Amino acid sequence: MTTPQSAAARCPAAHTAAASPTHPLPIYGPEFSADPHTTYNMLRAQGAIAPVEIAPGVWGYLTTTYRSALYLLRNTPNRFAKNPRHWQALVNGQVPPDSPALIMMQPRDNALWMDGTEHARLRHAITSSLERVDTHALATTVTKIADQLINAFTTAGVCDLAVQYADPLPMLTMIEVFGSSPDIGQRITTAIARLFDTDQDAAAANIDLEAACLALTHLKRRAPEPDVTSWLIEAGLTDEEMVQTILLVIGAATTPISNLIMNSIQRIITNPRFAGNVHEGVQPVSDALDEVLWTDPPVSNYSPLYALGHQTFEGLAIQPGYPILVSFAAANGDPTLGIAPGSYAGNRGHLSFSAGVHACPAPDLARIISETAIERALDRLPHLALATSQPIRRPGTFHSGFTSLPVSFQPAKALARTGR
Ligand code: HEM
Repeated sequence: MTTPQSAAARCPAAHTAAASPTHPLPIYGPEFSADPHTTYNMLRAQGAIAPVEIAPGVWGYLTTTYRSALYLLRNTPNRFAKNPRHWQALVNGQVPPDSPALIMMQPRDNALWMDGTEHARLRHAITSSLERVDTHALATTVTKIADQLINAFTTAGVCDLAVQYADPLPMLTMIEVFGSSPDIGQRITTAIARLFDTDQDAAAANIDLEAACLALTHLKRRAPEPDVTSWLIEAGLTDEEMVQTILLVIGAATTPISNLIMNSIQRIITNPRFAGNVHEGVQPVSDALDEVLWTDPPVSNYSPLYALGHQTFEGLAIQPGYPILVSFAAANGDPTLGIAPGSYAGNRGHLSFSAGVHACPAPDLARIISETAIERALDRLPHLALATSQPIRRPGTFHSGFTSLPVSFQPAKALARTGR
């Protein structure tokens, strides 16, 4: 059990003469999620990198500027490593076992958590496979899935756009991108839902999930097709690497895309600059995506890195062994960039897809999926409006999106029954 004293001893501010005099600010909880930029501003006032509480009892640092974020991301893995075996509290068993930080930051045998040549080999398999995705076919697939989801609620005039649309759409899309059969796809989606359901046995759900990914691998080894699973096999991955890579790519794609769809639709229907213009086609959806990627990035704080040895960085002595989270949200909002509000369209200089050797390998696919899904929702749901003044934001440190986004729209007439 962690005592307050031992927790304080594990806080980087306790070791650091140059650290701010204040207690590390929490970057979790409803207050933070409701207004993260107030926290980022307070942290930025302390320095380009500041001590934070990542989750209850989990300590580390957060970058607060564009420059500090880029510096860390570009110096991976020479001065900062990705592999969480450098995380002292984890190695010492001091991270609370039910901590939300653990789910997002514990090591797994996949490219995301590796450094050097092992990372490069697995990443090459991923990038060379994703490059082969036919983007026109992908847009058609997304439209088909969007229509299936919308058909289920279009006559109601109300729906929860998070639960009924933006959450399931990326998962269903990825299942098709991986060429999964319907039964294996169902096994993957059910197991992932069980993993996030606190009433379920997470270990059992994880075993089922890995078994479904292995079944998909065996299927494609026997009968390859033009899909990402078959291309990853072609790139030479073993069965174990296949399972972990399928899980990484599906996991890395789904929640961020879901967040981008919701954050963009919320912006379009509530912001007068977009509301009429996007509906009338005066301003393209891609302009709204650019603005959201700058101002409300789907992955707000992530890319945990670990200093290799003691380092002084932007005037702060960095203790090795503590996670340093890169804040994509604070970097994009860095006032020294001097970007005028409203002038984000066409500017892709944001860090929302990260940078350096671990940068997102699929920003173009992410944009195609998100843009197609948003356009389809706007086309098929006329007079789309928020049905609540306070949609519920996702809690937590790492993601920015909504768990619930109730909307109203002009209902479509029920389809006439055939054979009357
Ligand atoms: C809006 C959508 C997306 C956003 C905002 C996003 C953002 C990011 C970010 C910030 C990282 C860096 C994570 C880190 O260093 O810890 C990352 C990595 C990654 N993303 Fe994305 N992503 C998106 C969509 C996708 C999609 C569609 C795919 C695949 C189809 C994908 C696959 C990956 C993979 C495999 C990595 C790990 C790369 C590596 O470690 O070398 N992402 N993404």
